[in-house]
Amino acid sequence: MFNERKFTHTDPFIKVVFNTTFGFWVSVMYKQLRVAIIGVGKMGEAIVAGLIASNRCMSEYIVCYDISAERREYMRKIYGVKCFDKPSEDLKNVDMVFISVKPKDVPIVLSDIVPYLDRSSVLISVAAGVSLSYLRKYIPKPIPIVRIMPNLACMIREGMIAYSAEYAIDPDIERNIVDMLSLLGRVVKIDEQYMDVVTALVGSGPAYVAFVIEALADAGVRLGIPKDLAITMAAQTVLGASKLILDKRIHPAILRDMVATPGGTTVEGLLVLEENAVKSAFIHAISRAATKASELHLQS
Ligand SMILES: NC(=O)c1ccc[n+]([C@@H]2O[C@H](COP(=O)([O-])OP(=O)(O)OC[C@H]3O[C@@H](n4cnc5c(N)ncnc54)[C@H](OP(=O)(O)O)[C@@H]3O)[C@@H](O)[C@H]2O)c1
Repeated sequence: MFNERKFTHTDPFIKVVFNTTFGFWVSVMYKQLRVAIIGVGKMGEAIVAGLIASNRCMSEYIVCYDISAERREYMRKIYGVKCFDKPSEDLKNVDMVFISVKPKDVPIVLSDIVPYLDRSSVLISVAAGVSLSYLRKYIPKPIPIVRIMPNLACMIREGMIAYSAEYAIDPDIERNIVDMLSLLGRVVKIDEQYMDVVTALVGSGPAYVAFVIEALADAGVRLGIPKDLAITMAAQTVLGASKLILDKRIHPAILRDMVATPGGTTVEGLLVLEENAVKSAFIHAISRAATKASELHLQS
């Protein structure tokens, strides 16, 4: 029966049909990006997934490097990308090289990739606590270097991505980088001195929001709503409030006042949040995370 067959990214039949029809038109309309990603753990995978979903970077244009055989096998199977254990000739001629390993592993990765970096590529570091000057010390070649702090929502192209670039970056190259990063979500430029704060707010942010969603859902469960339904309602409520703030440019305090009618139910709840210093707890949580991020700094 026709419907019995399950199609995946790597299915040869789907690949042929996709590449000869839709893929052709996509590459006519937009040049396909060639991307290398070193370290395909959680963040590296999110970048791969987001790029493929954008249709600007098909899996055959992505090359991944990871020392974990398990991760390489997983990435090949799920995304159909090329994977190697260490930098190879394939690193040459890519438009962007992402470094997405833990900060402690950055020095070895930088030393390994230097021989393969082409003048036309751009180096993008995702690593927390690794400064532009530290990266430049290892990369004497005249290639642009950009430091970013994204989050896991890049996986569904709803990431928040803050970037810092070297002062001397060519404005056209910077525009191209921003265009490419925009495939993964919302992009803002920040002064590098704020990167630790951004690491705490943006990088760690999904964990804090998940914590809030879980708390809202638990409240629903306590009052008798089934768990799955409570999680869906809590998550969609957070999504909707976020979209109102971003799309309609409503200040959070205004949105809060729009919901909290005088003498109504919402003010009762807000009072309990104030009594328990929830806002203050969040401010301290982000501050603590930012301090921790500053302790990750690699010394150049
Ligand atoms: N996760 C997040 O939400 C998030 C958000 C923003 C930024 N970041 C940044 O993204 C970077 C990666 O974080 P992550 O959470 O994705 O870490 P992760 O899940 O541990 O992924 C890192 C991957 O790189 C591999 N690796 C280690 N050394 C390598 C080498 N020399 N060459 C190639 N691959 C190597 C690791 O293999 P082994 O496991 O075998 O060591 C692992 O598979 C970090 O610098 C972090 O600061 C993460």
